[in-house]
Amino acid sequence: MKTQTLINTASELVAADKGLLAMDESTPTCNKRFAALGIPQTEEMRRDYREMIVTTPGLSAGISGVILYDETMRQKTKAGASFVQVLVDAGIIPGIKVDTGAKDMATHPGEKITEGLDGLRERLIEYHEMGARFAKWRAVFAIGEDTPSQSCIEANAQDLARYAALCQEVGLVPVVEPEVLMEGSHTLEKCSAVTEEVLQEVFAQLYAQRVMLEGILLKPNLVLPGKSCLQQANANEVADATVTCLLQAVPAAVPGVAFLSGGQSAELASLRLNAMNIRFKSRLPWELAFSFARAIQQPALEIWAGQLANAAAAQQALLHRVRCNQAARRGEYNDSYEQS
Ligand code: G3H
Repeated sequence: MKTQTLINTASELVAADKGLLAMDESTPTCNKRFAALGIPQTEEMRRDYREMIVTTPGLSAGISGVILYDETMRQKTKAGASFVQVLVDAGIIPGIKVDTGAKDMATHPGEKITEGLDGLRERLIEYHEMGARFAKWRAVFAIGEDTPSQSCIEANAQDLARYAALCQEVGLVPVVEPEVLMEGSHTLEKCSAVTEEVLQEVFAQLYAQRVMLEGILLKPNLVLPGKSCLQQANANEVADATVTCLLQAVPAAVPGVAFLSGGQSAELASLRLNAMNIRFKSRLPWELAFSFARAIQQPALEIWAGQLANAAAAQQALLHRVRCNQAARRGEYNDSYEQS
């Protein structure tokens, strides 16, 4: 294991006010986002869209790493440069989503288990040779009357830990993503209790698999009331609940927490990240960063809409969200960012 390299890469990914851009949607997920906007769901369209993103001028000012998907990892710009090379040349660290998706968990109605461990070592070696320096694996937990069950939490946490150990063996920083979903009518308190239980199990399994915590990043959900809960929470309440929960479960050795956006609007994701950094930044052991997909990409995707002529405007929209989230990392984000 290249211990110092892993530590350096993990620290670099959450350095200063930068964060990660997730553009690791699987083909079905990317197609679903395209279909919603009437964009043709072809490999060439996905390639065009991803080329627009990776060639955004100035992206590296706020983005330390980009998470790719297998298809994207192998794609090239129209000019013939691999996306990986374009990122490296821009000073951005390439990463790769390596799970193969959350599938129905047998005997557990309504629950999912993430797959992808079979053959993972060989895939990781190949991705490392192609230039990836970190990886991502996402497990999901739905809050319901009787879910998530202990067995779902344990199975997913163990798989996350086995993935993380394999990543470190080949020199990739594992981004460990246990996502408690926003869907449902549960309260903020319920989300907090479930998130804490999930994170404690994830870290117990990471210890058991001898994962070096200084060489990972955690990518969790924010603690939020369910989307259809009647009592929603303001940004300060979300910030307090999230940081209080993380402090119960996340060891100080972990260099950074890079949140997913999970379907929040782009503005709310920035506002809540900002509230956490304003209130807690100076007294936490880990960086509070971002690893957003929709909360960075969605406005740009809507402007691009499958038209080359819109690419420059879409890149500006992408950069705008990046700058908002950089400001949120510094605790300086406010309304004026959205009016400029
Ligand atoms: O796994 C999910 C992505 O990496 C983050 O996506 O920010 O849209 O939740 P999101």
